[in-house]
Amino acid sequence: MTEKLEMYRCKICGNFVQVILDGYGELVCCGEAMEKINPNTTEEVKTEYHIPVYKYTGKDGIVIQVGVEPHPMIKEHYIMFIETISEDKKRVKLQYLEPGDQPKMLLESKIGKENALAFCNLHGLWRGESD
Ligand SMILES: [Fe+2]
Repeated sequence: MTEKLEMYRCKICGNFVQVILDGYGELVCCGEAMEKINPNTTEEVKTEYHIPVYKYTGKDGIVIQVGVEPHPMIKEHYIMFIETISEDKKRVKLQYLEPGDQPKMLLESKIGKENALAFCNLHGLWRGESD
């Protein structure tokens, strides 16, 4: 059983997928069940930050930043994407990032409470939420 917006990865080839709608079957890649990726929601290490935070910036709307202090964005270690999902899961926005970009996503608006996901190439998936 898969649920809308869950993420799965193939341990063999690295394929990374997100479920668009719920289903009953098991996701398989390279002949094996794909691994569900559960986001981390707390972090112990305080020298590097991964949890996305929503910042309200007057005229520019909302910025989702990965980390209270911005996460590194170098070739060897960076945030590959940020996704924000409304609490009712009716709206999703995805921002891909590259080394050298800022670890941020701009939003013109927000619909109620939202959850943001950020994926670090070294440290995996992280979730933060808006107020
Ligand atoms: Fe990281």
